[in-house]
Amino acid sequence: MNRRADFPLLVNNPGLHYLDSAATSQKPKLVLDAIRDFYENSNANPHRGAYALSVEATERYCCARERIAQFLGVGDPSCLVFTRGTTESLNLVGASWGRANVKSGDEVVVSAMEHHANFVPWQQLAAEKGAKLRICELTTDGRMDLDCLRSIVGRQTKIVAFNHVSNALGTINPVREIVQIVREKSGAILVCDGAQSAPHFRVNFDELDVDFFAFSGHKMLGPMGLGGLIGRRAMLEAMPPYQTGGDMIEFVYDDRTTWNVLPHKFEAGTPNAADAVGLAAAVDYLDAIGADQILSHERRLMASAQTRLSAIEGIRIFGPPPAERSGVISFVLGDVHPHDLATILDGQGVCIRAGHHCCQPLMRRLDVAATARASFYVYNDESDVEALINGVLKAKEIFGHVAA
Ligand code: ALA
Repeated sequence: MNRRADFPLLVNNPGLHYLDSAATSQKPKLVLDAIRDFYENSNANPHRGAYALSVEATERYCCARERIAQFLGVGDPSCLVFTRGTTESLNLVGASWGRANVKSGDEVVVSAMEHHANFVPWQQLAAEKGAKLRICELTTDGRMDLDCLRSIVGRQTKIVAFNHVSNALGTINPVREIVQIVREKSGAILVCDGAQSAPHFRVNFDELDVDFFAFSGHKMLGPMGLGGLIGRRAMLEAMPPYQTGGDMIEFVYDDRTTWNVLPHKFEAGTPNAADAVGLAAAVDYLDAIGADQILSHERRLMASAQTRLSAIEGIRIFGPPPAERSGVISFVLGDVHPHDLATILDGQGVCIRAGHHCCQPLMRRLDVAATARASFYVYNDESDVEALINGVLKAKEIFGHVAA
């Protein structure tokens, strides 16, 4: 697979080895063209005008929703609410479903490998309601400890929130087993953070059997600022709005307001139609490659990086074996600070992320302040692995002996 030529930023920067797609992906030309085309030919405020241009903008926005819903296995596109991204989607569930349903004495469960976006909203909700936040601990190789989950979920549990794939470790969580455990032991809702799964393998919301699924367009070749929340119709209909104003109303009286139907009830303000059109183009691109191809390609590169990194003295790699991860590899080089390592790699044209990856509770459990993380996607190839390894070797040379 050699897709680099489809990505203008990579074409414009021939020496660049972009290994930070878990933070945000690069965008293919066809996505940039789709956004530009919307603004050049169809731009008007959807749902607002009685004129043909506004109707066209509305149609393009609706078609984009249908296309993205189809890509994510959502039978009913009106159960896909556009948001700014995963973080907003998870906050929406916390503020709307959570505030309406969680009360003092209840419990909310999260895993210890959550991104702060799927941790802090539940922690804050629990604090506000006098509920208890319970944490599902991890196995030593960075998986959710399902025995721990079994032991902490019970009738008191109202919400179980977990990621489909860990952004920091690449661990692919066993959704089916998690759903089964939670449904057997409680009436809790399941909230799945899909920010790191939707870009990399086939997600079918209707088959996942979770209640809510959140994703971000910018990690799946789409533009920044648009993602979504998928939810069960009955739940979304019963939930109060998250924000008010704009087209989310049905009628506004002096003393009360009634709400529009789904998905509009949760889309206050002017919708981000151009970026929805861009994301629809991105999923066309991903579909043309094929979900299985994408995962196997990035896994092959990640496994190659793992083999070669493991041969370097002082390297410690986190998470389960490559076959159970997405295309993410998280590591440290002895006592070299990951920020220093990333700076040296940057000097070689290699972009990786270094830091806590918005997962401080996880870092504490790994007993590190930070890791270096390389993440692979459709435009990477073996030359990127080569550049990563050469950069790490250079760092080792600069820092001399690295204490393990
Ligand atoms: N959540 C993004 C990451 O893991 C920003 O890098």
